Amino acid sequence: MRKRLSGSGSRLLIFVFVIGTVCLSACNQKEEKQEVSKKKTKSALTFIRNDDCLNCHNIEDKSVGPTYVQISQRYEADFSTISKLANKIIEGGGGIWGSQQMSKHPFLEKKNAKKIVRWILSLSDSTVNKDPLLHTPGLKLSEVFQNKPAAAREANGLKLSIYPSDGLEAHYVNASTDKTSPVSPLHNGLANVIHFTGQEAFEPLQERVLLRASGSIHISEKGKYFFKLIKSGEGRVFMNGDKIINENKDDHEIAVDLKAGTYPIVVEYLLKPKDNTLSLQWITPDDEYYSVVPEEVFSVKN
Ligand code: HEC
Repeated sequence: MRKRLSGSGSRLLIFVFVIGTVCLSACNQKEEKQEVSKKKTKSALTFIRNDDCLNCHNIEDKSVGPTYVQISQRYEADFSTISKLANKIIEGGGGIWGSQQMSKHPFLEKKNAKKIVRWILSLSDSTVNKDPLLHTPGLKLSEVFQNKPAAAREANGLKLSIYPSDGLEAHYVNASTDKTSPVSPLHNGLANVIHFTGQEAFEPLQERVLLRASGSIHISEKGKYFFKLIKSGEGRVFMNGDKIINENKDDHEIAVDLKAGTYPIVVEYLLKPKDNTLSLQWITPDDEYYSVVPEEVFSVKN
């Protein structure tokens, strides 16, 4: 008797629960959306974005502290290492990587510190972090030259021009502002993305020429974006007139706060005689790993 009673009682509970769940999802979509965006702000990289970590660490570029990729290459992601590194972030200290000290982070909860460490250590795990250089098919310049920007004015992508090395320096210096260069391009085309992996992608170019991609980038969500220019030679990125990545070989990466909007963008690269690779990647505020900046955010119109 008792059994049956409790059985129907739990059935009633399940019924109430099911109705409740259906109602929650159907009747209150707005609340559900807020729930989702709350969850978003708790990702490991968001803790890093909102704390002071980026003052001393980049994901890949050297800074005061080791890069997150270096840290991930040094340690196994086992339970005790995760816990040890989480404590180190909270307590600060030094002695492992050099003479610099990490500051204390006493307000960071241990569970969040562990979440951060798990993300850092995942950077060297290729099953989690799908490196676009290995996983995203590259573009070829020969294809780019077949797409004429004039014919594809409405298309997504960037206008890509190749300039001779003759008079190159002058052009290179003025490139952020100079739209009508006195030097005429050798080739023009439309590149849907900036992702040329390996020397074959640059054929038929060989000699030292300047590659310049320009247009605008549309940002739909406000937040902190990471940009990375993988370059085997000298390359740089201008956004909204500011040089965000400079031609120095060690400068690849930047975290920038962006509002929603459309920004002019210029990517320049000086080709080397061989072994060229050029890839423009980003991490959007709702993502945790780099991916190739996709064509739908680019437009040839400034
Ligand atoms: C004031 C600069 C500074 C800030 C801010 C900073 N770090 Fe560090 N961090 C360092 C230095 C320097 C080291 C190397 C310490 C050593 O050699 O033991 C380091 C090391 C680390 C390590 C590796 C520790 C080890 O023992 O190998 C991790 C993980 C780390 N930091 C994560 C973070 C996170 C996450 C934040 C933000 C919450 C942060 N750091 C903020 C400077 C900083």
